[in-house]
Amino acid sequence: MLYLFVLGRDSLLSRLEVESLLETKGLKFNIVDESKNILVVNCDLLKPEIIDEFGGIIKIAELISSSGRFDQIEESLEKSSLYEGTKNKIEYYIDSFNTNLLSFLEDYLKDYFRKISIKALYRKTKEPSKLINKNILESGVNLVVFKNYIGKVIAITNPLELKKRDVHRPDVDYKKVISIRLAKILINISKIKENQILLDPFCGSGTVLQEALLKNVNVIGVDSDKESVGQAEKNLNWVTKEFKLKKKFEIYNLDCRNIAEKIKKNSVDVVVTEPYMGPYIRKLPNIYEAKNLVLELTNLYGILLNNLKNVVKNDGRVVIVIPKFRTRENKIVFIDFKNIAEKNGFILINKPINYGYKESKLLRDIYVLEKIVN
Ligand SMILES: C[S@@+](CC[C@H](N)C(=O)[O-])C[C@H]1O[C@@H](n2cnc3c(N)ncnc32)[C@H](O)[C@@H]1O
Repeated sequence: MLYLFVLGRDSLLSRLEVESLLETKGLKFNIVDESKNILVVNCDLLKPEIIDEFGGIIKIAELISSSGRFDQIEESLEKSSLYEGTKNKIEYYIDSFNTNLLSFLEDYLKDYFRKISIKALYRKTKEPSKLINKNILESGVNLVVFKNYIGKVIAITNPLELKKRDVHRPDVDYKKVISIRLAKILINISKIKENQILLDPFCGSGTVLQEALLKNVNVIGVDSDKESVGQAEKNLNWVTKEFKLKKKFEIYNLDCRNIAEKIKKNSVDVVVTEPYMGPYIRKLPNIYEAKNLVLELTNLYGILLNNLKNVVKNDGRVVIVIPKFRTRENKIVFIDFKNIAEKNGFILINKPINYGYKESKLLRDIYVLEKIVN
């Protein structure tokens, strides 16, 4: 079966997330074509609900046609069940990417709805929350067209669900927290499986831990700030009760440099974390300040990895967000994280992937490491 995945803003990260999650689920797949926005994947049958497991995927469409010939496209569209709803007044959407087929499809759909006597309005919005509110998958049609690939959308991400989880948790400090979407992406990239153990050594109020618990994973959180530990405990108790979760969580008020005090050797399957990245940036640092911060963080991350080497199982993954600092002189100051990782028993298994807007004050790269087997 061919599927078109509509990728989120950080498309390289979304691509890695798709590969990692399909692999973790034991599905056979290969990537057939791709662009900044779309991944065309040949894969075992997917259930639409899989979209809820992703953090960086906007839509999934099932392929209807991949031909460039109008007669063949028409034949495939006729065979497909484009609209199966019961309403006779609906809306339809076409998301188009690098294609010459848009006007052909627009004409085809206009004709198609006229023939089946459905009053159909062609709309332009692509915002998932609006499409979900309109229940477009049941009472409407959404096509995705990329090059010659035409697919019918079978799943749309539900931002309202994530928002509910974000705003209803009891205690969060938004200056410290990572987004639920990013937490989901990082956890998927870690390739953690159900019942395994995930550690976040800078757990803050526990976003990563919460999203991992929801995947049926046991979690351990560590944070040196007492207040954050209290917040994480409250939030994890809430999520466990609210979603009737069965998995265990442990949270320690501890400096990440001392994790060996509480966490057993070779006991952790994966580490997923957005660590401490220096003080909250109000105005850009100058080069001197940025270089000092890089020295401080190089030291912290080095000691952290040296500790993780002991508690993480062989082959275990570490998925970590590493900052880069833009300075007032418009330079970018980096941490040599590859070197830190290699000195402490880990290897990089991907090129670091940039996350976020290029204009942000704080730039971030996602690193995926694997522990070298002793
Ligand atoms: C960016 S926040 C973490 C966000 C969190 N991973 C989440 O899921 O939302 C960084 C956290 O690191 C904690 N921290 C700073 N230095 C630390 C250290 N040496 N050891 C452990 N935690 C530390 C801070 O208290 C803060 O809560």
